[in-house]
Amino acid sequence: MAAPRIRRADKSDWQQIWPFWHEIVAAGDTYAYPPDIDSAAGRALWFGVPPEQTWVAELGSELVATYHLGPNHAGPGSHIANASYMVSAGVRGLGIGRTMVVHSIEQASEAGYRGMQFNAVAASNLGAVRLYSDLGFEVVGRIPGGFRHPSQGFVELLIMFRPL
Ligand SMILES: CC(C)(COP(=O)(O)OP(=O)(O)OC[C@H]1O[C@@H](n2cnc3c(N)ncnc32)[C@H](O)[C@@H]1OP(=O)(O)O)[C@@H](O)C(=O)NCCC(=O)NCCS
Repeated sequence: MAAPRIRRADKSDWQQIWPFWHEIVAAGDTYAYPPDIDSAAGRALWFGVPPEQTWVAELGSELVATYHLGPNHAGPGSHIANASYMVSAGVRGLGIGRTMVVHSIEQASEAGYRGMQFNAVAASNLGAVRLYSDLGFEVVGRIPGGFRHPSQGFVELLIMFRPL
């Protein structure tokens, strides 16, 4: 597989992001976002406001994945980054997610963040947990039943962290 090209997203990329972004969110099994969120609200959430950054990954001319990076909290918590990743279903398992997580760690380091935190990783999301663990993130918190999975019911919600 050719390596994905990762570049900063432009607002005009949203029409290519939205179909897979919406599919992932509507499924309700990985993100604690409202599954019925509409396109405008989704775009506002995913693009945020500076210093938040949105990136996309392209395979050839096709936009197949995206990630979002920004401060996890405001003010005295703003030196810890938060990031979120979405890969289109048809191209998962090809290394694009790993490439984006590594890229986001580099971007966060360059931007001066001192750590990266994921607030809401569903423990049922085995691929994501394995990927993050492999890249140095540790589970630092477990919220019992914190994620309401559509078929598995209440599963643990994990907080994961790695220093930068
Ligand atoms: C999680 C996600 C970003 C991973 O992206 P991906 O491109 O499929 O992942 P990669 O191909 O880079 O795989 C990287 C690693 O993840 C793990 N992994 C990925 N999918 C997996 C699966 N279905 N089962 C087990 N492990 C898996 C493996 O450890 C893999 O390591 P390897 O390269 O040594 O095999 C992607 O599946 C996705 O967008 N899922 C839906 C949205 C989501 O869950 N986002 C994360 C929310 S916390």
